[in-house]
Amino acid sequence: MSTLVTGIGELTTQDDDLGVLRGAALVLDGERVAWVGPAAQAPPCDTAVDVEGRAVLPGWVDSHTHLVFAGDRTAEFTARMAGEPYAAGGIAVTVEATRAATDDELRANLRRLVAEAAAQGTTCVETKTGYGLTTEDELRAARIAAQEVDEVTYLGAHLVPPGADPDEYTALAAGDMLAAVAPHVRWADVFCEVGAFDEAQSRRVLSAARAHGLGLRVHGNQLGPGPGVRLAVELGAASVDHCTHLTPADVDALASAGTVATLLPACDLSTRQPLPPARTLLDAGARVALATNCNPGSSYTTSMAYCVATAVLQMRMTVDEAIRAATTTPAHSLARPDLGHLAPGARADVHVLDAPSRTHLAYRPGTPLTHAVWRKGTRVR
Ligand code: NIG
Repeated sequence: MSTLVTGIGELTTQDDDLGVLRGAALVLDGERVAWVGPAAQAPPCDTAVDVEGRAVLPGWVDSHTHLVFAGDRTAEFTARMAGEPYAAGGIAVTVEATRAATDDELRANLRRLVAEAAAQGTTCVETKTGYGLTTEDELRAARIAAQEVDEVTYLGAHLVPPGADPDEYTALAAGDMLAAVAPHVRWADVFCEVGAFDEAQSRRVLSAARAHGLGLRVHGNQLGPGPGVRLAVELGAASVDHCTHLTPADVDALASAGTVATLLPACDLSTRQPLPPARTLLDAGARVALATNCNPGSSYTTSMAYCVATAVLQMRMTVDEAIRAATTTPAHSLARPDLGHLAPGARADVHVLDAPSRTHLAYRPGTPLTHAVWRKGTRVR
């Protein structure tokens, strides 16, 4: 079944050769993009959809979320807005609620959030375990996530559970827990921060995960300067996420490494942290991605458009840099060359804006601009 998308006002392909096209059309065939080119030369298709002059771009790739959870932390958010600092210990509140939830409850909440994201143009979601913190609960989270999203990350090293011995828990997270979860995930992550896991503990979990064949991601430099970025670069992690508090040495390390700096501006705003130094990173030559970090504690939003608008309006990224950071670069960080661009062979993940150009993403912040979405060639909005 092939679909011709025509009437495209501006087609942002995120493909280096194709660039931004006007007067173009797109053919979706099954789950793939089959053809991109001038509308007048489009091949015959089974059906056609006229998007009446609207802008089209690849679906958002949200490469950092924590969606397997139960419970609510409105009270913590309210206290924070009244001046309380964000502390990693809030994670334990969600751990308790998540352990108490049934599989069906966790699955329903995850589906609700994935659907909410898709309705706003997100066609690929990475999500993490990390609110279970026992072998059984981490395994349960990984299994549920693997049924619902494209990419799953093991985050057994999210917090030392209250009452547990830090070194014993680290040994578990790097040992039996990891071994149980590894067959269900492609990635492993560690929260390397004061109050969570120190450098030695983080290195232990990440090295063990690498030995299991998992790709590495790191939560680093969220609440203050620390070893997270340095460790991520040293171990060849695909991404180091947060990067809110960076030293010049961290910026240099990211600029000369393949590790993507994934920035989470919605989290920084919700936790009253400074926004990360996106301009400095880009000017130094680092690869920058943007993600929502959707979770019930530090960043309860599924809106990639909000992150893109914030990156442009408050972090001095250009619209094109922000779109790249929300499509192609996170796809790269997830080792998914089929995502984040619209060229023949790519997955047919298409986002039609209710606007004539991509610039409206920042020009009209807070406005719901998603008109239509295809994921794997199926229209989901
Ligand atoms: O990325 N930093 C660690 N983990 C999450 C927070 C999760 C929570 O507060 O529940 C984050 O911000």
